[in-house]
This record gives sequence, structure tokens and C-alpha cells, in this order.
Amino acid sequence: MRLADKRILLGVSGGIAAYKSAELVRRLKDQGAEVRVVMTRSAKEFITPLTLQAVSGHPVAYSLLDPSAEAGMGHIELAKWADLVLIAPASANLMARMAAGMADELLTTLCLATPAPIALAPAMNQQMYLNGATQANLKTLASRGILLWGPDAGSQACGDVGPGRMLDPLELVDRCCQQLAAEPLLAGVKLLLTAGPTREALDPVRYISNHSSGKMGYAIARAAREAGAEVTLVSGPVTLATPAGVTRIDVESAEQMHQAVMSRVDECDLFIGCAAVADYRPEQVASQKIKKSGDNDQMVVKLVKNPDIIAAVGALSDKPFTVGFAAETVDVEQYALDKLQRKRLDMIAANDVSREGQGFNADDNALTVFWQGGQAPLPLADKLTLARHLIALIARHYRH
Ligand code: PMT
Repeated sequence: MRLADKRILLGVSGGIAAYKSAELVRRLKDQGAEVRVVMTRSAKEFITPLTLQAVSGHPVAYSLLDPSAEAGMGHIELAKWADLVLIAPASANLMARMAAGMADELLTTLCLATPAPIALAPAMNQQMYLNGATQANLKTLASRGILLWGPDAGSQACGDVGPGRMLDPLELVDRCCQQLAAEPLLAGVKLLLTAGPTREALDPVRYISNHSSGKMGYAIARAAREAGAEVTLVSGPVTLATPAGVTRIDVESAEQMHQAVMSRVDECDLFIGCAAVADYRPEQVASQKIKKSGDNDQMVVKLVKNPDIIAAVGALSDKPFTVGFAAETVDVEQYALDKLQRKRLDMIAANDVSREGQGFNADDNALTVFWQGGQAPLPLADKLTLARHLIALIARHYRH
């Protein structure tokens, strides 16, 4: 119940994503929030007030000049009642009116009258979103401290592909939790995290590596930072930007990653090993480029074992709370549980990398997290959403 006693005013404006608002209300209530809904005139063309009244348990407000509504909770009272105003979906039209400071209907008036933070979840056609007018309005709203949550990119109801999809209701609930948490989930916690692949050199131009893109680890770094952690990210070679507020240490090989982790682990409270570390490296690294030999159809490379970084962290007498990943293609649960024990981990996120569209180098992922005596599925989602759920789960166990 991460939103117990929190009062959320949900504004719904006109757009096809309004059908997701009913689900959003239910998920907010699952977390203990009290939700009141205000709709714009055009929102009522997409979803009925009756539906939102049924799921929220309160009459839905939509008229500024309705004497009976004003006799109940009037618009100024409603504006003062909210701990947070969330507008989802926020249409291009609504954002334009807000940017202009208009008070032309109940929702825009409430936005001017409320002392609460306001968050917008934009949702519209990608071309409308990218239009210079919309972008300028977004800039204006952001400069006034209005929070912009999303949009997501992907395929749209109109058939276009691009940015403009409303964030998933669960993701919006997470954002509300973070916004309203009295103290961020990982406030003051020092997190050391590995991400990306390692490269094990064969010669100056060749290496052995894997398909890790770093996306999962970087999403975790961002989610942990949002949750208040001080994050140090030890990263293998990837092409991603460093998340804001995160300290990044670049390495290439498993041995370098091991060294970078072990020299910093004493200072951390929490360690997460998300990197796909090569288990073996070539015994010899040729100082010059290896030449193709005319006679031999085969070439034998002898590999030696790399240090197991997370096992070394788990073996420390004063070890941090340690969370590993297990990337498996068969017997996922069994191998994950074995690694949990053998590497002395507190939690492990099992990643079935045999499934299409998730795991290595994909934008989405799904995990099952195990700990001593328990487990939790984290269903398929984009990696940032998943990382936020994972961080919330880790924070709950770390704190107890
Ligand atoms: O980077 P992406 O493209 O987003 O993909 C994400 C991912 C699939 C790489 C990630 O979700 C993931 O599953 N990471 C772990 C990959 C892995 O190497 O798993 P493993 O089962 O081989 O290793 C188990 C654990 O030991 C991991 O925490 C790993 O970081 C750690 N390990 C492994 C070997 C080694 N020498 N040292 C280690 O610390």
C-alpha cells in the first residue's frame, strides 16, 4: 500500500488512451490511494463518467458551473484536497490550454488553483507530439515545474509508430509512489552496479563477448537513482548515455570489472550484478593481429576461467546486500536457485533469455526474482518499468 492515505486527483482529457484511465484508477486504489476523477468535455466522448465513478467510488466532476457539484466538493476545495494532480491521458489540446494559462473548464481551472504538484502523461499521435507547437507547450509547462511522465514510443492506435503513447498505468502508479513517498525508497543507500558485456581480447583487434547491450543495467541505475540511491555503475562497453546523477566507471574485460568492483565494494550498501561477464578469457592475448595460416583449417584457443565477481562480493565477511542475475535458456528456476546459494546472494533475478523479444539486447524483459523462502514474478515490460518494479522489490527486502 505505497499510496495509503494519499489523495490523487486524476484528470482525464480526450483521447483514445482515456480507456486506460479506468485501469489506472483501479491500480492507484490497489496501492491505497483515494482517487477522484475530473474529466474534460471531450474525455466523455471516449469513456463514460459512470465507468470512472464506478471504479473510483466517487462522483466524477466535469462541469465548472454545476451548482450541485459546487455544493458538494467545489472546485477550489477539490484543488486543495489533492496531494497530486495526475492528468492521464493529457492531450495536445489540454496541454496547449494549460500552457496558455486558460481556465476554460473545470480541469484547467483546477490546474491553476491547486497547490499540489501536477504531472502530465501525454498521449497523442506521434506527429502531433513532435509538432513544434506541442513541443513548445511542453517546454513552457516543464519550466513551470509541471512533471512530464512519458510519453512512450511504439505503435499507436491510429497505425503510426513513434512517440506519443501514454505510459502504462502500472508505470504511472510507480511514478506517483515515487513522487509522493515521504522518503524515497533507497534514500541514502550506496549502490554499486555492474552492467553490459565484457570483452575478452584475443589480439589487438579481436575479442570474445556476448549480446548484452547494457539496457537492463542502465535502466536499473536510473530507477535506483530516482529512488534516491547514490549509484556507481561499472559498465562494460555499451553505446548508452549515462543516466543523470549516476557515476560511471568504464571497463572492458572481466578482470577490469572485477578490479573496479572489488576496489569500491567496501563503500557500498547494495550490490547488483547485472553485467553479462564472460566466464572465460583467452589464456594468451597475442600482441599482434593473429594471421590466418594457409595450412590450418582449424584454430584452437585455450580459455581460462575469469574471476566470478559476484561470488567474490558474496564471499566477503562484511558483504553488502547482494543481488545477482541468472541468464538461462533451460531449467531457469533451478539454475537461479543454485546461483543464489552457491554465490551467497540475498536475491537473484532469473532471466529466461530463450524467449523471443526479451533479455539480451531487447527493449523489454521479464524476470522472476528469488530469495530465501520466496519469489516474485515481474511480468514482461519495457526495461525501465521492470527496473522500477525490481528496485521497489529489492528496497523492501533490503530495508527488512
Ligand atoms: O544488457 P541487456 O542487453 O539489457 O541484457 C540484460 C541481461 C540479459 C544481460 C541481464 O538481464 C542479465 O541477465 N544479466 C546476467 C547475465 C549473466 O551473465 O548471467 P550468468 O547467469 O552468467 O551470471 C550469474 C550472475 O553472476 C550475474 O549476476 C553475473 O553478473 C555474475 N557473474 C557471472 C560471471 C562472472 N565471472 N562474474 C559475475 O559476477
